[in-house]
Amino acid sequence: MGHAPGTKPTDRPHFYGRRSGQTLGPRRRARLEAILDRFGITAADLPDGNPARLFPAATPVWLEIGFGAGEHLAAQAAAHPGVGFIGCEPFRNGVATLARLIDEADLGNIRIFHEDVRLLMPTLAPAVFDRVFLLFPDPWPKTRHHRRRFVNRENLDQMARTMRDGAELRFATDHADYCRWSLARIRAHGAFEWTARRAADWRDRPADATETRFEQKALEAGRQPVYLTFLRRPGDTQGA
Ligand SMILES: C[S@@+](CC[C@H](N)C(=O)[O-])C[C@H]1O[C@@H](n2cnc3c(N)ncnc32)[C@H](O)[C@@H]1O
Repeated sequence: MGHAPGTKPTDRPHFYGRRSGQTLGPRRRARLEAILDRFGITAADLPDGNPARLFPAATPVWLEIGFGAGEHLAAQAAAHPGVGFIGCEPFRNGVATLARLIDEADLGNIRIFHEDVRLLMPTLAPAVFDRVFLLFPDPWPKTRHHRRRFVNRENLDQMARTMRDGAELRFATDHADYCRWSLARIRAHGAFEWTARRAADWRDRPADATETRFEQKALEAGRQPVYLTFLRRPGDTQGA
């Protein structure tokens, strides 16, 4: 996969997660490669930084960051055929599972950036996304690893920049400290308004969302996930 125009490979942010797991068998590998040939994208596919160009005219575009095995992404794409989806995930085995889901449901409205989303976002034009999902990001629980957490000023700036006014950011976690960390940073950022009015708004999974793999693991282990929904405030709120 090519690096973003204007950046050298050495500028790449370090990705601390896993890029691969168990070796894929020949059939899974062949399917993954076939799906990536059809639906894989690099920043070079978006010379104007507008992901809408990958879909029919006037299609809103939603982004899922770190889709894991892609259950949520595939279910959303099936439920919203009039929406174009960009899914970002460096973990090869997860992308292989999404490839199966795309094949089985014959989904044509997902494009896959099989890489770190931080390589894509700076190459995008402003206000290109109508919704962004960040579901169960790695909590990096050890204090010395907190700086690896995805929710930080730089990534929030990029999300705010690439979301349209009124666009929705959906965040979920089962990690109490990461929940507090994220809520504090997202609210302090200035570009996002938390929509919760009552406890059910953050206790219950949004009605149209499918359980993700990490969410299922959390529930099985007795951990209660928290679902935070924010709206992108209108106007230039960067640096607020
Ligand atoms: C804990 S898993 C959750 C996966 C999925 N969202 C779920 O709920 O089952 C976090 C995922 O985010 C991915 N990830 C972490 N940092 C990322 C980044 N910078 N860009 C894209 N994906 C990222 C990881 O590879 C991993 O698959």
